[in-house]
Amino acid sequence: MCGIVGYVGEKQAQAVVIEGLRRLEYRGYDSAGIALVDGGAVAWQKRAGKLANLEKAIVDEPLALSTTGIGHTRWATHGAPNDANAHPHLGRGGRLALVHNGIIENFVELRTGLENAGHELASETDTEVAAHLLELELDAGADLTTAMQRVCCRLEGAFTLVAIDATDPSRVVAARRNSPLVVGLGEGENFLGSDVAAFIEHTREALELGQDQVVTITREGVSVTGFDGSPSEGRRYHVDWDLSAAEKDGHDWFMRKEIYEQPRAVADSLLGRRTPSGALQLDEMRLSDEELRDIDKIIIIACGTSFYAGMVAKYAIEHWTRIPVEVELASEFRYRDPILNASTLVVAISQSGETADTLQAIRHARLQRSRVLAICNTNGSTIPRESDAVIYTHAGPEIGVASTKGFLTQLVACYLLALYLAQVKGTRFGDEITEVMDQLDSMPAHIQTVLDDEAVYALAREHVGTRSVLFLGRHAGYPVALEGALKLKELAYLHAEGFAAGELKHGPIALVEDRLPVLCVVPPQGRDQLRDKMLSGIQEVRARGARTICLVEEGDESIEPYADVLVRLPKVPVLLQPLVAVVPLQLFACELATALGHDVDQPRNLAKSVTVE
Ligand code: G6P
Repeated sequence: MCGIVGYVGEKQAQAVVIEGLRRLEYRGYDSAGIALVDGGAVAWQKRAGKLANLEKAIVDEPLALSTTGIGHTRWATHGAPNDANAHPHLGRGGRLALVHNGIIENFVELRTGLENAGHELASETDTEVAAHLLELELDAGADLTTAMQRVCCRLEGAFTLVAIDATDPSRVVAARRNSPLVVGLGEGENFLGSDVAAFIEHTREALELGQDQVVTITREGVSVTGFDGSPSEGRRYHVDWDLSAAEKDGHDWFMRKEIYEQPRAVADSLLGRRTPSGALQLDEMRLSDEELRDIDKIIIIACGTSFYAGMVAKYAIEHWTRIPVEVELASEFRYRDPILNASTLVVAISQSGETADTLQAIRHARLQRSRVLAICNTNGSTIPRESDAVIYTHAGPEIGVASTKGFLTQLVACYLLALYLAQVKGTRFGDEITEVMDQLDSMPAHIQTVLDDEAVYALAREHVGTRSVLFLGRHAGYPVALEGALKLKELAYLHAEGFAAGELKHGPIALVEDRLPVLCVVPPQGRDQLRDKMLSGIQEVRARGARTICLVEEGDESIEPYADVLVRLPKVPVLLQPLVAVVPLQLFACELATALGHDVDQPRNLAKSVTVE
């Protein structure tokens, strides 16, 4: 949510900043802007809409050459997505330029103070207030680093701020509280970004910052302090993916590329999890076996697609460990006064590691003395840093706003966690765990089989003009139905709803009308009770005219008489079926949205990393 870039070095800052914004555009695309230090003044340009509008404006009115600059791509919170509210924002005298991600909660009070002192503010944003305050500090004689420290002490809420001072081209200064910011470490140049994608083509060395820190980058180096000016440091790390991972690689969309990367992402997320003797090991599991044996309840918190991964995890963890599991939307968690204590394990699932709702939920859990384990795809992000333990997924960067490989690798991490707990608690024998691990190891090949069957493309294109689609599932197939519906909402902007098939008769069946497409995730054979109940649900909607599209295991003929369309899935155990069943639904949504002419990677109104509550 909002992408931020900063650069100081020997290269032309405009090119570096614009390229960084291109790589961060998935974080928000309501407007884009750039500011450069230009011989004692700030040169800037900003435009509502996608980055392309800003680029065109720069072609029409070129900016001066400069080697120091900042940039921003916006997901609007305060104020409409127009030119005036686009970032950067300037101080009263135009000496200081500032970009911001987050929400300054006390901005009304600060704004009133400024207005009473005669300041005129040009936008409706909370950001502009901070720009004016920073410039006042500069005018009073502070350097930009000191000004940033002082102003941050007056701000409440969540913010990453990045600023330049027209009189000091040697530095770019940034600060963070509850909002993401990483430093890219170069030779004779340094970078700032909301995430490492902003500078990955220049360096893979990064510095993770802590909470309430101010960072100053110059050509020569990086210095970090607290808001009070006390010296501090960040954690240096190496980014384990490169520029090619952040390119479309011949695909029309990042999302499609990411769907096709899933066999590799799943395989990578399984790598190195077994010791030579066959026992499960989780490197980043910083909780001791003793601590884990004390766990008597698990609460999974997450948002969006990650929440559905959590729903699947509940089935697996309860089945393999007999530990009761609750799954809760992170945005609701704190507000229901949850019952937590030291023997509760809170599992936070977040692809980005920055989702504000999830972050606030884990902070609440830790205050209640619960241990927190993060499942996360982003090294250097806030949620794993603030957790007691972490299982990293190895999906590589996910750039398409709608999550795909993030989801599959989260499922893998959830299975690993469940099996690890079963191993530690002794609720499953070693050979049972080995059997599931072997089945997991065969999943990349099964996912590839699903990807190779392109029939779902034609199916998707047949649905151009459809206004509503239902998804049905049971057991672990229920979250798959929910995820299938979410993908379609996000990308095709259709009315799409997922239901537990058994609930159908309690209301949703009233939605069924002639030719309504209903996608049904059929449980595998061997779970016949489940499958038979699913079959009844399919018959019920079909009897009312629905067009049934059934995702069903190969070799299962029992569904054929009730399916208008069959999509075949490989034979896998019921708990692992989500790993294959969701793939045709991802392809369906991606292809239908493409056929409708939508921007699949940047769906309207959405942002990938939602860093405001
Ligand atoms: C946003 C994205 C979703 C994602 C959700 C949770 O809403 O658009 O695709 O599932 O955030 O993100 P997280 O990074 O916490 O997994």
